[in-house]
Amino acid sequence: MIDREEHAAVPIPVVLDCDPGHDDAFALWLAAGNPALELLGITTVGGNGRLSQTTYNARVVATVAGIHGVPLAAGADKPLTRALTTAPHIHGSSALDGPVLPEPQVEVDPRGAVGLLRELITASAEPVTILATGPLTNIALLAGVHPEVLGNVADIVWMGGSTGRGNVTPYAEFNSWVDPEAVAVVLDSAPPLTMVGLNVTHQALATAELLDRLAEVGNATSAFGVELLRFYTASYQAAQGMAAPPLHDPVAVALVARPELVDTVHARLDVEVHGTETAGATSVVLHGRPSRPANARVAVQLDVAGFWDEVEAAIRVLR
Ligand code: RIB
Ligand code: CA
Repeated sequence: MIDREEHAAVPIPVVLDCDPGHDDAFALWLAAGNPALELLGITTVGGNGRLSQTTYNARVVATVAGIHGVPLAAGADKPLTRALTTAPHIHGSSALDGPVLPEPQVEVDPRGAVGLLRELITASAEPVTILATGPLTNIALLAGVHPEVLGNVADIVWMGGSTGRGNVTPYAEFNSWVDPEAVAVVLDSAPPLTMVGLNVTHQALATAELLDRLAEVGNATSAFGVELLRFYTASYQAAQGMAAPPLHDPVAVALVARPELVDTVHARLDVEVHGTETAGATSVVLHGRPSRPANARVAVQLDVAGFWDEVEAAIRVLR
């Protein structure tokens, strides 16, 4: 178990931009429940589902866990230039299929995602870490419309991309594939991006043993989470032929909460925006001499046991 005292330091201020989405739910719970983090706000983006769905689902996920007083605002309903493609084959028609969804008790903040992010980041006494677990559309819009805000952004930690094969096409991971132009915009803006790709998140497999471990936590959040994972497991078995599904998004959160859990390297990262078959591919130069300077931090290894300890510990302190 984790010695909770070790997180006595000042919590790191974070905002979470997400597209719930089964794994986004666990990212939200880890961001809210881990004492090393202070969750300032939640923003939503079209991705796993339509914006109306991901926003409703974020409200539900916060409600289930008893997360109140954290502003939640909706962002972009489509990518910068492309039409939105959602992922019902993984997340279902509601984008959060499995459990019965309770009536949300969290309202939608009228400031919108870019407005909320701008206000929260500007007002923070400490530089804010942006956690992004969906397509980067909102973050690209923030960087484009309010570039001055990025001066108080410590890092942009994104679950997306891959140093290897993709999961939507052979070359592209879903968050990158939905809006590759947004990835390019964020890569061109400061601060540098930290990419937590499939090469690492596929180490975080939600096995049957993990579901049993979470069920034993015995609170409302764990019970809801187990029902989410049961649906998510069946989806991944059917769609990807994987016995246990990778719980992608909370790995990005764990990297910020406990940096020692995720090994990273500085590397050259570029995204393909023109390819017919390769759009959304993330090109990471890990070895040899890149022709252009390193511009990102790339996750390469996960302490799997330590990761699941953090996920369980966060859920344990929620409702
Ligand atoms: O490719 C996995 C990513 O796409 C995760 O963030 C999942 O929630 C979907 O958004
Ligand atoms: Ca996501």
